[in-house]
Amino acid sequence: MTVRHFLKDSSVSPAEQSEILRLAIEVKADRLKRQPLAGPQAVAVLTDKPTLRTQLSFCVGVAELGGYPMFVDGKLAGVGRRESVADVARVLGRQVAAIVWRTYGQDRIEELASLVDVPVVNALTDDYHPCQVLADLQTAAEHLGGVDRLAGAKLAYFGDGANNMAQSYLLGGAVAGMEVVIATPGDYRPKAAVLAEAEAIAARTGAKVAVTQDVAEAAVSAQIVATDTWVSMGQEGDAEERRSPFVPYRVDEALMAKASPDAIFIHCLPAYRGSEVTAGVIDGPQSRVWDEAENRLHAQKALLIWLLAQAQAQTRAQG
Ligand code: NVA
Repeated sequence: MTVRHFLKDSSVSPAEQSEILRLAIEVKADRLKRQPLAGPQAVAVLTDKPTLRTQLSFCVGVAELGGYPMFVDGKLAGVGRRESVADVARVLGRQVAAIVWRTYGQDRIEELASLVDVPVVNALTDDYHPCQVLADLQTAAEHLGGVDRLAGAKLAYFGDGANNMAQSYLLGGAVAGMEVVIATPGDYRPKAAVLAEAEAIAARTGAKVAVTQDVAEAAVSAQIVATDTWVSMGQEGDAEERRSPFVPYRVDEALMAKASPDAIFIHCLPAYRGSEVTAGVIDGPQSRVWDEAENRLHAQKALLIWLLAQAQAQTRAQG
């Protein structure tokens, strides 16, 4: 058996996802209680793309777990350019307790994970942002009154249906047993394989997943309203053509009025007020974006605690 990794939202089972979310709530209440990285053991936090929350929350989180966060600038290291992903994997894998990576292709993180004996965490790829969705599920659970209230709750996402957030909502929401509706233009649907995987998970968990162009239908009775930038990292060259198709999917006050009266608004940030969301919504009373950003810290600490415990149990079993 190889060590467990968190490469996408479906890398964990429904029971495992619940366990991690409960742990996230526990470590939020007592931040320094768990110290599985005491030593300190190092965790590499490697990123090939811009970052604020990812660098901050992983580095603070690793320190709070008693460890040493080793931030590695992927551009400086030249992963896949100056040296191959495989060679980087072999070097990092011998020196750190876990590897966190934000990169482009999902194939890059899968290759790295296949070559190391320590847990690898996806801190965003072009296809998925599963750590963000763990934080979002924690935020939703706090609003709904507990992790077991996630099942059956409706999350509606508006905007780019083909990006990492939409695809992670589909998978992560399906694992949690939620109703996930992605409202997106026809040309920006999630990858067929991702939707098929979400549907297969939903058939087991009781979740419902759907993709629609009907904004009103998506919004009706939604308890969690989400959006994301229309121009993801790496798409900056297409910024102009990526604007008009999404205008009808902007989350504004009128859209929020169609959702459940007690709906919350979430956004992974960075946000562009006046594009995917109005200032009135993101800065308004229904917004939970600052709790959500803070929950990156707690959810990722819980994930690391869980992954390190899995790796330790495996070492014991083999030893
Ligand atoms: N979809 C966005 C998420 C940023 C955290 C991007 O990939 O740039």
